[in-house]
Amino acid sequence: MQKLSIRKAGEPDEALYELLLLADPSREIVDDYLARGECYTAWASDELAGVYVLLQTRPKTIEIVNIAVKESLQNRGFGKLLVRDAIEKARQSGADTIEIGTGNSSIHQLSLYQKCGFRIQAVDHDFFIRHYDEDIFENGIQCRDMIRLYMDL
Ligand code: COA
Repeated sequence: MQKLSIRKAGEPDEALYELLLLADPSREIVDDYLARGECYTAWASDELAGVYVLLQTRPKTIEIVNIAVKESLQNRGFGKLLVRDAIEKARQSGADTIEIGTGNSSIHQLSLYQKCGFRIQAVDHDFFIRHYDEDIFENGIQCRDMIRLYMDL
């Protein structure tokens, strides 16, 4: 498998926003995460391949609030590498819990996170109806509820 080099992101440019917006269509929300969290970029040689943002949400709790792999490079195991790297960074920071949230219709993401060790904690019913103007559909399912997952570190 191609190697990834993961490092702290510099000032966000359009290529980085394009990736971040794959995970969250709201630029306002993305900007809020960038201002409050720590953004890491993953590079395959000189190509920007992926991104994730870590945010401390409570004492000793870190959330992966945005994670994305460039569309042309998906399904090669990079997503799993990014999730594992984020878990390691959270552990090294002294956190004892890492969390992530995804839509009820995000079947691939739910599979990926559980394969990496996350467990379902709660469901935030109608989260996407309350927070997004447009209806979202994936895999033929309406995205209504936020599935909250966690892992003890
Ligand atoms: N359905 C179900 N599971 C799938 C799948 C599919 N269509 N495609 C891949 N998977 C599973 C694979 O089984 C794989 O596990 P395996 O290695 O044991 O086979 C696992 O998901 C990880 O796949 P990987 O190739 O590492 O993921 P990726 O590089 O495609 O990245 C995302 C995953 C989610 C980061 C990527 O799809 C993405 O950027 N999506 C858009 C942004 C997004 O939705 N972000 C998350 C918001 S919550």
